[in-house]
Amino acid sequence: MKKANVLIVDDSRSALFAVRALLSPAGIHTVTASDAFQGQEALRAGQFDLVITDVDMPNMSGLEFCEWVKSNPETAHIPVIVLSSLDTDADIENGFKVGADAYVPKRMANKELIPRIESVMNRCTFVKEKTILVVEDNKTIQTVTKQGLEDAGFYVVLADDGQHALDIIDDVTPDILLTDLNMPRLNGDELCRRLLNTTKYKFLPIVVMSSLGDKPVMRGLIREGVTAFIVKPFNVDMLVVTVEKLLSDHFQRMLEERERLVLEQKLTIGSIASLINALEARDKYTRGHSEAVTRISLAIGKELGFSDTEMHRLQIAASLHDLGKIGIRDNVLLKPGKLTKEEFEHIQTHTVVVQEILKPLPGMKDVLVAASSHHERWDGTGYPNGLKGEDIPLIGRIIAVADVFDALTSDRPYRDSIPVDKALQIITEGVGSHFCPTVAPAFFRYMKTLKNGNLT
Ligand SMILES: [Fe+2]
Repeated sequence: MKKANVLIVDDSRSALFAVRALLSPAGIHTVTASDAFQGQEALRAGQFDLVITDVDMPNMSGLEFCEWVKSNPETAHIPVIVLSSLDTDADIENGFKVGADAYVPKRMANKELIPRIESVMNRCTFVKEKTILVVEDNKTIQTVTKQGLEDAGFYVVLADDGQHALDIIDDVTPDILLTDLNMPRLNGDELCRRLLNTTKYKFLPIVVMSSLGDKPVMRGLIREGVTAFIVKPFNVDMLVVTVEKLLSDHFQRMLEERERLVLEQKLTIGSIASLINALEARDKYTRGHSEAVTRISLAIGKELGFSDTEMHRLQIAASLHDLGKIGIRDNVLLKPGKLTKEEFEHIQTHTVVVQEILKPLPGMKDVLVAASSHHERWDGTGYPNGLKGEDIPLIGRIIAVADVFDALTSDRPYRDSIPVDKALQIITEGVGSHFCPTVAPAFFRYMKTLKNGNLT
């Protein structure tokens, strides 16, 4: 978070002190005001990134003060957090009614205030620094609109008509399009229709500047996907507020979408864990195998400098790499002796079965493909596809090493475990034939960091 300058308005000296003490260690600069009037004076005199206000104050309440901040063109862009000892649903709703950006109950301030400040400020940064393509043939309106939006912190590109906008839009990549309706060459309504019919721009927020007489056209455009319209003549402050609101709503939707994805991933991982438990309950020899393979795979990923996202994908792939064994018959999976050719072919299908089982889960395809390649060999003699070298997904090459190491050092139906040194020697001998020459050294580096080769 950038160094913020925050105005705190509260009639209680101890509350001012407490909030200040909370914000200072986070590097937030604070100015205090003991009532709303002092708060107004401070806002007129200085530049602030955020206002935090109490509700219950003499002379002017915090809610009235918030309303004043939001209705004053000079201060409307400053986010306001209401910090109050009143925290019923009705109190919170009243806070939002007057335009507050967040509402934090005082009793939760210790825990919630800083994260709330961060999210409000992030939203503001998101809203600012955005590019607006203004499509307008009238030079005077162009100039006034550009000036107003630039003063509010936006980056503005001008187009003289619809055709001009189409010519430059791919270079400009705007976050919002603001367009007039009646223009030479290509009208605003046709411009909107063309953009809304493309994959690239169908979600681009579009604001149409129209006259009262354009209402029927506007109704049609809103139905077709135009986000909002602003009636001419408008004042620029109104326009800025409209644009900020649109971007803020867009930001909110993005946050919700991210939360949804995180939840979806958690559910996915939860269901995979249950399936793995079901598999391992059948076979005492593989109990804990998926967990060990995941742990070793992640250690290799770390050695290879994987990003958080790559580590996450590696974790999922490693934990489900043998899940397809759910489809293997007990008399084959648990057979103590050597497998027949037919039995071995049956067990090989576990790499394909896992893809079938988890196919319905969203966004899992590439992780599944990677997990399914853990029995491929660097020299192309593995299964299921006989992939060779770097054609084998990197995640699959990592799991291959982790899988063999854990299998060698654990008891199996057909043999006892072998010592770690011997297992390392077997893997060393397999580099370049069975194992990837980049992955194996990363594994050895990791093993060196473990005292006595102990995996715990
Ligand atoms: Fe396997």
